[in-house]
Amino acid sequence: MRIADIPTPALVVDLAAMTRNIERMAAFFRTGPCRLRPHFKAHKTPEIARRQLAAGGCTGLTCATVGEAERAADLCDDILLANEPVGPGKCERLGALARRVAVTVAVDSTAALEAIAAAATRAGVTIGVLVDVNVGQMRCGVAPGDEALRLARRVAGTKGIALRGLMGYEGHLQPVADRAEREAGAHRAMEGLVATARRLRETGLPCDIVSAGGTGTYDISGRIEGITEIQAGSYVLMDSDYGRLDVPFEQAFWVLGTVISRPDPTRSVADCGHKAMTKDHGLPTVRGIEGAIVAALNDEHAMIALPAGASLNVGDRIYLRPSHTDPTINLHDVLYAVEDDAVIDVWPIAARGYPEHRYPSSARTARNSTDGQSRQPRPV
Ligand SMILES: Cc1ncc(COP(=O)(O)O)c(C=O)c1O
Repeated sequence: MRIADIPTPALVVDLAAMTRNIERMAAFFRTGPCRLRPHFKAHKTPEIARRQLAAGGCTGLTCATVGEAERAADLCDDILLANEPVGPGKCERLGALARRVAVTVAVDSTAALEAIAAAATRAGVTIGVLVDVNVGQMRCGVAPGDEALRLARRVAGTKGIALRGLMGYEGHLQPVADRAEREAGAHRAMEGLVATARRLRETGLPCDIVSAGGTGTYDISGRIEGITEIQAGSYVLMDSDYGRLDVPFEQAFWVLGTVISRPDPTRSVADCGHKAMTKDHGLPTVRGIEGAIVAALNDEHAMIALPAGASLNVGDRIYLRPSHTDPTINLHDVLYAVEDDAVIDVWPIAARGYPEHRYPSSARTARNSTDGQSRQPRPV
């Protein structure tokens, strides 16, 4: 198969660039002491996670949803759910998962803790917990210091649960373009987290894991004494938002589209709108056509403003660089892994969406057979 044969819109991965990204990140963490726990949510693709783990320097995988964790458990035996597992069925599924692999989850409330503990007891397993600390992102997490210590004590005393340490994701600092500002912010954010970890240990509580970081801060937080692992994800494929930063990773994936209309010399329209890529971090950029910009995305259309003399005609292919990796990946079923003009492989994005809602095949079969019957021609 050649790239020209790929139906559009589609996601293509530049295999060589992705491999270089994986190697650069692994090289940073291979020497330790801090390790990498690649975030599976960035690509949701088992083949990519397999390659990240094989490159070394890793201590397991990070996930954001229970569905991702269920897939990730086929790939490694140490899973961190860096998110609060609250809601119907989540704790039960984690209990089942903990029979197969080591499962650790982030917790910032006693309500969540009790639900996890009950599920762990029912499943006859121990589930690890990291106390989720708010280091300035203002999303989930308890305050560093006394509040975190109080919850950690409660975690340590809960049956079915093992306190493993702390998590503090400095998400607000990932997109800060100015390196000095990002660095100063990460040091401030991690100071409170590391100090809290020290207090846990001084009080005799276990704190083997202090988990933080992302693509924007991996080499800052990842070199702060006391941080034991970094949860970076986007580095492997990259996007135009992270592309503004001075991080040493290459753009490795693109939305491939086909031009469906050339209404006038200044405009082309391609078949890849915001159902093929997110625009939450801005519009995508155009590869390889100097001066061309994406003026707007509709559901199924990309409106491209062209410079004078540009050639981009009906039937031509176009590569767009998404502004945000994770939500773009989540819109697709497969990634086409390409090298030059050849499609080397097609990888299922197996953990996309919410697999727990997938229509069960048994129900589909039953329904189809009913539909089939109702469509039988009536005897005349
Ligand atoms: C909890 C958590 N950890 C780590 C990350 C880092 O991911 P990335 O490397 O894509 O910035 C994210 C990204 O949203 C996250 O939510």
